[in-house]
Amino acid sequence: MSMERISRALELAARQREAHAAAAIAEQPQTENMPETAAVAPIRAPQAPVLTLDPAAMEREYVLPPSAGGARGRHYKLLRTQVLRRLDQLKANTLAVLSPKTDAGKTLTAINLAIAIAAELDRTALLVDLDLRNPGVHQRLGLRPELGIEDCLQAGRPVSDAIVRLAGYERLTVLPVREPVEHSAELLNSEYAIRQVADLRNRYANRIIVVDLPPVLQADDALAFSRTAQAGLMVVGEGRTARADLLQSMELLRDLTIVGTVLNGSREPVVQAY
Ligand SMILES: Nc1ncnc2c1ncn2[C@@H]1O[C@H](COP(=O)(O)OP(=O)(O)OP(=O)(O)O)[C@@H](O)[C@H]1O
Ligand SMILES: [Mg+2]
Repeated sequence: MSMERISRALELAARQREAHAAAAIAEQPQTENMPETAAVAPIRAPQAPVLTLDPAAMEREYVLPPSAGGARGRHYKLLRTQVLRRLDQLKANTLAVLSPKTDAGKTLTAINLAIAIAAELDRTALLVDLDLRNPGVHQRLGLRPELGIEDCLQAGRPVSDAIVRLAGYERLTVLPVREPVEHSAELLNSEYAIRQVADLRNRYANRIIVVDLPPVLQADDALAFSRTAQAGLMVVGEGRTARADLLQSMELLRDLTIVGTVLNGSREPVVQAY
């Protein structure tokens, strides 16, 4: 599909959502009890293992360096700035990274967006892999976590137990999956999981939580989680995402505020913020 047609589909979807978006903003949860301080809360995960990434592998996998520098970083920094502005307007800190179908670039977008957010001195980011059926964060980063978020959810232990840090990446923490889960929608939809995510969200007001999810049209997971997320970012694969699939996904997610769309091409992501 050409860029032009995708752009028109996005415009149409955006128009269709305008009324819903206004309602959703009005319904945002109260955040009065969150600390208003501009200072960054330290990431209190002193026991979190610090894992080292292989810089050459990260380069190969298009994963940004800690500074989010370089030509590739420019695009993610632009995305970061636009996303943060919208999240701040919404007083939201939990962003679901979504796409209609597989292979659009959700995982890469989630990783690089989280890195770009953490590259800002006054922000922290927590990257959470909730694509439990086809987890990609640990694979792309080359991590072999001993404990995954799915282990915690299954065992009823705090998901923060599975948090890891990445050497050199200040202000960034990662909550990876260790192994794919079959009944992922049930696990995500459990009262325990919802409470755990709410707990992560409420712990530090300044921490942006970026959540990688399965495709919207593939399983119930993304839709189920959209009730817990406060905002969504739609990743559209250039030439890979069909217009009808995009419109159907936007319709399914009509109650979630979509803060923008990433047109993810083979070279660089193009951002459209709402
Ligand atoms: N901007 C980009 N530049 C180059 N390659 C990219 C880009 N975005 C994605 N890719 C490639 O496209 C493939 C799919 O990306 P990714 O795994 O991030 O998609 P996904 O939406 O998470 O897929 P899935 O639905 O399977 O989880 C990967 O091989 C990735 O390297
Ligand atoms: Mg993925």
